[in-house]
Amino acid sequence: MWYVKNALTRKNLMALTGLFLSFFLIIHLFGNLQLLLPGETARVQYNWYSHLLADNIIVKVIALVLYLCILLHTIDAIYLTLKSKKANGSGYAKDKRGRASKWYSRNMMFLGSIVFLFLIIHFKDFWYQFKFGELALDEHGNKDLYTLVIEAFDQLWYVMLYVVAIIALGYHLMHGVFSAYRTLGLYHPIYSKIVKFSGMAYALIMTVGYIIIPIYIYLNH
Ligand code: HEM
Repeated sequence: MWYVKNALTRKNLMALTGLFLSFFLIIHLFGNLQLLLPGETARVQYNWYSHLLADNIIVKVIALVLYLCILLHTIDAIYLTLKSKKANGSGYAKDKRGRASKWYSRNMMFLGSIVFLFLIIHFKDFWYQFKFGELALDEHGNKDLYTLVIEAFDQLWYVMLYVVAIIALGYHLMHGVFSAYRTLGLYHPIYSKIVKFSGMAYALIMTVGYIIIPIYIYLNH
């Protein structure tokens, strides 16, 4: 690969891109929780907020960094997985390790793949429609992204797809945040409990926060 040769540096890059994506998730959650505001306020507020972000040059630059981080994080994950498979040879070493580690820490690639597939659907249905689709305008002249999202979560299968993907994301984050701290050397045995607890709490808050949105919309619209 052209940009980083060293496996350790690659792990650092995975950790850094992962932490950036985790930070994005907090902002994205707050943005989307506006969908749950009462009545017409939700439509006006959500459309206004989305329009505000889409028009801001700083947000546009950050969005480009975000897309790059998603790509780098994915490419590095594939590279490191293939490399560790090659180094471990047979599955024997993996089996021994399995007894001491949590199932989700051993299946980061699988969980990450679910999140990646989810992102392709998510980009196609929401991101692409918002940027390039022909959305109707609301009474303030903003694209009616609110109606697009509400109508999507009107379908039970679509809500279930989100719930499954978000649970996979939650487990991915549970190990990911902790692992990133360790990789970057920010982890210290004395603080291990705090790091573990905050990683778990973050993953749980993200999971519950994101899951509530499609379920609430399905039940209330
Ligand atoms: C139920 C929850 C969610 C809703 C309602 C939602 C809604 C949206 C909408 C409407 C867009 C297009 C408008 C925009 O670009 O801001 C979008 C973009 C995006 N979403 Fe979500 N989303 C949800 C969950 C997620 C999750 C769990 C992830 C990550 C795993 C995610 C990642 C993204 C990304 C990366 C973008 C592109 C952002 C950008 O271009 O600035 N979303 N989402």
